[in-house]
Amino acid sequence: MRVHVADHPLITHKLTVLRNKNTSSPTFRALTEELVTLLAYEATRGVRTQPVEIETPVTRTTGLEISTPRPLVVPILRAGLGMLDGMVKLLPTAEVGFLGMVRDEETLQPMTYAERLPDDLSNRQCFVLDPMLATGGSLGAAIQFLIKRGAVDVTAVCILGAPEGLERLERETEGLDVTIVLGALDERLDENGYIVPGLGDAGDRLYGLV
Ligand code: PRP
Ligand code: URA
Repeated sequence: MRVHVADHPLITHKLTVLRNKNTSSPTFRALTEELVTLLAYEATRGVRTQPVEIETPVTRTTGLEISTPRPLVVPILRAGLGMLDGMVKLLPTAEVGFLGMVRDEETLQPMTYAERLPDDLSNRQCFVLDPMLATGGSLGAAIQFLIKRGAVDVTAVCILGAPEGLERLERETEGLDVTIVLGALDERLDENGYIVPGLGDAGDRLYGLV
């Protein structure tokens, strides 16, 4: 597993506003989108391309275009939905599938409640979107789900991660081609499984309490 933690003052600035408990939902949503676009630049560094012949106004030349089958972007509902626009801004030709997961706040175990993905993901590059990598239960289950469908290459984009979640993913994805791109790697999890210092409950901050 490869891990890339962003290191850029614009990202740190936006994260600082995002973490602030006084930041309103509309600002939180806008910042999440902007942060994902910045992280998507790094996450798509290995996107597969193929040569293409084109004609400029001056001459014929060979360029590169994103390969087919097109990459698949998979936001994990609910909070991952807040990351989708930021990702497809940079990767507009991607297809989008959905996974709905919720973490039981007592046991911290993830439960999958919805799935809308192609049956066959063989030869597909997949980009999973989930803002919070806490215990790693949700992201680990999502990655296993995609691998079972045939995906061979999965990149996850997360706004914040905890060391405990990364260690778990490292064990669970051994031997698989998995990359994690993080906006920041925080200190730890608290006794309720929340990231510290974190930003609280990402879904609630994006969309309100349900
Ligand atoms: C949050 C977050 C991740 C998960 C992370 O979702 O968006 O999916 O928790 O925790 P984990 O690493 O310990 O599994 P949540 O279950 O709160 O659902 P929501 O997106 O609907 O709010
Ligand atoms: N899910 C969240 O939304 N926030 C956390 O800190 C941990 C899990």
